[in-house]
Amino acid sequence: MDRWQTIVEPFRIHSVEPIHLSTVAERDRALRAAGWNLFNLHARDVLIDLLTDSGTGAMSRDQWAAIQHGDESYAGSPSWYAFLESVQALFPFRHVIPTHQGRAAEKILFSTIGGPGRVIPNNTHFDTTRANVEFSGAEAVDLVIPEGRVPSALHPFKGNLDVAALERLLAARGDDVPVVFVTITNNFGGGQPVSLGNLHAVRAVCDRYAKPLFLDACRFAENAWFIREREPGQSGRPIPEIVREIASLADGMTMSAKKDGLANIGGWPAMNDDVLAEQCRNILILTEGFVTYGGLAGRDLEAIAQGLREVVDEDYLRYRIRSTAYLGEALDAAGIPVVKPFGGHAIYLDARALLPHVPPLAYPGQALAVALYREGGIRGCEIGTVMFGRRPDGREEPAAMDLVRLAIPRRTYTQSHIDYVIEVVRWVAERAGELRGLRIVQQPAVLRHFGARFEPLP
Ligand code: F0G
Repeated sequence: MDRWQTIVEPFRIHSVEPIHLSTVAERDRALRAAGWNLFNLHARDVLIDLLTDSGTGAMSRDQWAAIQHGDESYAGSPSWYAFLESVQALFPFRHVIPTHQGRAAEKILFSTIGGPGRVIPNNTHFDTTRANVEFSGAEAVDLVIPEGRVPSALHPFKGNLDVAALERLLAARGDDVPVVFVTITNNFGGGQPVSLGNLHAVRAVCDRYAKPLFLDACRFAENAWFIREREPGQSGRPIPEIVREIASLADGMTMSAKKDGLANIGGWPAMNDDVLAEQCRNILILTEGFVTYGGLAGRDLEAIAQGLREVVDEDYLRYRIRSTAYLGEALDAAGIPVVKPFGGHAIYLDARALLPHVPPLAYPGQALAVALYREGGIRGCEIGTVMFGRRPDGREEPAAMDLVRLAIPRRTYTQSHIDYVIEVVRWVAERAGELRGLRIVQQPAVLRHFGARFEPLP
């Protein structure tokens, strides 16, 4: 296939969804009604929705067929066993606990092992992960390698955890650390992968301090593909084998099946520790459901079981990573500042670099995201000072970076949709000097980016 430049999507379209081709005037009205927060839009008013890659992908023929096998028995459904077998084929942890999505897995886990005085290291906590850690009273510490904090820095595994920094934390506060987390791929660092070598090194430190290692494994298959492509000695290795090696280094995981489960809903925590599993199941029954379905219908369990078989397919992963890079390469070639190397599930625009005249506390990422929507109907997501600028004590300070994430739903948009995105981003970037910042006029207490309302600055 290497002879041809065109990315052939390794599927044909079987069922289509209409897109409403809205106008700028319609989108201006929609923005005003939404308080300039793209989370408040009616999705019908969005032309290309790159808000998230989570639960927004297309399911395959075989997943829809699997759904027909959904068995809705309250306890011990065959669909539960299909799910369990499929999860354990890749992640052979002793206990797998189904939940309705990833953050439910986090909530359950951190209610048992978090709490005041505790500290949880991670390469970079995803927003719900950080919020669940902090909600328990614990402290969330990000220990990604220094390159992972610099949008323009090149590193093949920019998601790696800083092993020396972890060692220092454990030496200073070891008693307060109930678990070490590594997020694969590192979503908020730009969808950047973690190397097998780094995971082995983290494991060795965890062993020295007798700490369990957990994976936030939402995008494990994309991470495994990067390992195969970039890590010496890994080329050509079967993806499931790489995934199983990753799993063998950990004591447990949290997962959102809405990403590399190729499903629209679902998740799980998994672990080897019997006592911890018992505690988690007790909370599961209170909040999600019985232990063989969690927050899911039998049909969802079937869709995930099949999705996990499809996501490790090499043709799929080659297309997935290539088509994401296609967007990044075109923007980069146009001189638009983007996080590099390109991540697996998204391209991140560096709004702080593109809008140097908008200070971080006037939210350059939000300004850029709003402009992409207004001009082209493209919905991206601010990842910056709106999302992270408010400290737990209420102070406001610039986040490490001000990015706009263009996340690519799996198997959903074609190359011509992406060509349109490229055209719009270039148009907006050429006029970036005209964009103004915003101020927040109303905000919720936690995860403010979801509910805040803004006003453009004069
Ligand atoms: N961990 C990571 C690394 C994630 O990216 C997400 C979700 C979660 C945990 C939580 O999973 O949504 O199923 O509750 N990320 C989505 C995103 C929402 O847009 O990046 P969830």
